Amino acid sequence: MPSEAAIWRKPVASRLRKTQMQNRFSPQRPYKDIFIMGYRVAIVGATGNVGREMLNIIEELNFPVDKMHAIASRKSKGVEVAFGDKTLKCEDLEQFDFSTVDVVLMSAGGSVSKAWSEKIGKAGPIVIDNSSAFRMDPDVPLIVPEVNPDAVKDAKKKNIVANPNCSTAQLVVALKPLHDAAKVKRVVVSTYQSVSGAGKEGMDELWNQTKAIYGLGDATPKKFPKQIAFNVIPYIGSFNDDGYTDEEAKMWNETHKMIDPSIKLTVTCVRVPVFVGHSEAVTVEFDRPIEPDEAREILREAPGVLVVDKLEHDGYITPVDVAGEHAVYVSRIRKDPTVKNGLSFWVVGDNLRKGAALNAVQIAQLLDETGTITPSSGYRSLTV
Ligand SMILES: NC(=O)c1ccc[n+]([C@@H]2O[C@H](COP(=O)([O-])OP(=O)(O)OC[C@H]3O[C@@H](n4cnc5c(N)ncnc54)[C@H](OP(=O)(O)O)[C@@H]3O)[C@@H](O)[C@H]2O)c1
Repeated sequence: MPSEAAIWRKPVASRLRKTQMQNRFSPQRPYKDIFIMGYRVAIVGATGNVGREMLNIIEELNFPVDKMHAIASRKSKGVEVAFGDKTLKCEDLEQFDFSTVDVVLMSAGGSVSKAWSEKIGKAGPIVIDNSSAFRMDPDVPLIVPEVNPDAVKDAKKKNIVANPNCSTAQLVVALKPLHDAAKVKRVVVSTYQSVSGAGKEGMDELWNQTKAIYGLGDATPKKFPKQIAFNVIPYIGSFNDDGYTDEEAKMWNETHKMIDPSIKLTVTCVRVPVFVGHSEAVTVEFDRPIEPDEAREILREAPGVLVVDKLEHDGYITPVDVAGEHAVYVSRIRKDPTVKNGLSFWVVGDNLRKGAALNAVQIAQLLDETGTITPSSGYRSLTV
């Protein structure tokens, strides 16, 4: 069953709206019947928020699939999930033979990844792992294709490629082109993270708590440590000894691995009562002066970024605007007059898409385009 709160997602038609990203990553429509090799793909966590988006995006981006398997826990065996115009019945992770597939998109949480991803990699397929379990493993590349596609050369070391944390993914897409132009010295980030980042249960808690508070029902927090409806919570993940949370540490560790270990970051991660879409208030100190207009120009040319930045109410982006979109949106670019070469801006992305499922499918495309994977069975017919 999809989460009750999933009704807040935009209808499929609006998700299919073309953005620059979709144009870049979708092949041109074919004008005649052609046959291409297809991959045998398994999605582990197919009943989840991210797994369902993976199924949608594989179809939207025409990733060549010969056979798709939807996999979840034993309790979901036989549960139906949509894949394009087909319906797939979920299979049980414990009983699935992974030597029969070429690519596995793993999205069932850290403990499932820790128990399974290496085993699956050894059985043959490449695993694109969406959890934090392998992100900092030196033998596992951590990839955002717009940022560090060359890291794909290490994909075969363990047959695992890691997908970054949702907040890091959208940050580095905006940060990398600026870093290339005017070295980033220091970044201060405050995140405003939606409840879908905490899975189906997170969305249901916001929905049920909101109804309970209006209807004088039980609004006791279960998934989140405090009430999330009509509130904000400056805590995501778990506390580390230094007073930061592990979610905050992920953002600097992963930025260091993908862009540059010399960038200093300080981060505050905050859960907000938004269903889909993470926002970030970002302040960057560069090693040379950079004007807001120059930053706008750089970001307009950058892959995966859309700049919406005017001093009017249609001139900045909110999470409701990006649900279902592929691009990372940057708004409110302005000077930070309190430091030598400072800029502040606002970054918004769909955490289930660029923050998770889209990036994973883009990694699959990168593996395909670089010949790191090749289909081992079947042809797929693409019609006009
Ligand atoms: N949501 C985001 O913004 C985001 C961003 C980046 C990364 N991620 C990561 O993506 C992963 C999934 O997130 P989500 O938001 O999709 O979570 P979710 O909505 O709670 O879904 C979890 C999925 O994992 C499956 N699962 C759980 N335990 C399992 C087990 N023992 N064996 C097999 N399948 C199992 C569930 O299957 P059942 O339905 O059968 O229980 C379900 O399909 C997590 O690692 C998360 O950290 C999420």
